[in-house]
Amino acid sequence: ATEIKVGLAGFGNVGKGTYDILERNHSLIRQRAGAPISVKRVTVRNVDRVKLLVDEDVIVTNDWHDLVNDPEVNVVVEAMGGIEPAKSLILAAIDAGKHVVTANKALLAEHGNEIFSAAQAKGVNVAFEAAVAGSIPIVKALREGLAANRVSSIAGIINGTCNFILSTMRDTGRSFDDVLKEAQRLGYAEADPTFDIEGTDSAHKLMLLSAIAFGVPVDMSKVHIEGITHLEAKDIKFAEELGYRIKLLGITKYTDYGIELRVHPALVPTRRLLANVEGAMNAVVVKGDAAESSLYYGKGAGSEPTGSAVVADLIDIARTAEVAVSERPRMPTTTHNPKAKSFA
Ligand code: HSE
Repeated sequence: ATEIKVGLAGFGNVGKGTYDILERNHSLIRQRAGAPISVKRVTVRNVDRVKLLVDEDVIVTNDWHDLVNDPEVNVVVEAMGGIEPAKSLILAAIDAGKHVVTANKALLAEHGNEIFSAAQAKGVNVAFEAAVAGSIPIVKALREGLAANRVSSIAGIINGTCNFILSTMRDTGRSFDDVLKEAQRLGYAEADPTFDIEGTDSAHKLMLLSAIAFGVPVDMSKVHIEGITHLEAKDIKFAEELGYRIKLLGITKYTDYGIELRVHPALVPTRRLLANVEGAMNAVVVKGDAAESSLYYGKGAGSEPTGSAVVADLIDIARTAEVAVSERPRMPTTTHNPKAKSFA
């Protein structure tokens, strides 16, 4: 295992959640990773605010180039969101031979092909467990747990904000706008919440799941997208009376004609598990030829649930990846060490 010195870009919900988990569970994480993982630098817009929130030995600046230029930083965590400057930072980090961990589904769904091929060429990882379904290890489930399967379909509730809005409107009769504001206060919604309510965020995550399961290149123009903005309280009520719940689903299927990708509100029979996923929870059902149907359920949004997935990726990198540690001479390995004490 290799010691990880993180350069963290962004200290919003995801960045702060990641930092707090690394601090609180430091020794446990060290044990599991086999080496310490700590944040060496943070770059943010508001340096003064963040200086109050981190340890005094963490260097806080407002220029993301500082992360790339620090030879000790071996993993960059991109928690800025949005396309630019996140994309430039990630490409520069890859170019400098650093691994990247990101929660940025919009960026990967739009520019993933370019980013992943740059990473492959440099032999570094771009890990993105946090980009899909928050705390749920769905990327690992598809790549590892279900690696033996031919996946036939993935269907899920993959936007916490929409699910929170739909379930709270149903339970309380409150208005769409009012509940959306609460989702923003709770840190579930995107900086621009139209991404959530218009289905774009679900589509980004679905695109990534489909790319993993079916090996398709990312291409957002292939996703049919319909959000929840035209739904009214009475739609939810009538659905309930007929024995259904309205859920915003993301569905990708292997068909004879190609890979289908769609996001839209769906009537889910109340007795089904997906119908009973409430609040900001996410759930994903994967069908594979060998495992058959499996369900993954958990918190899909929020500071520490998303940070949990970021830190899991950092632990993975510490355990397995070749981490470049500059200016450390490579020692030859030997089984003969004349100075070692003999226990014989
Ligand atoms: N805005 C997203 C959601 C955050 O509500 O699910 C997690 O990706």
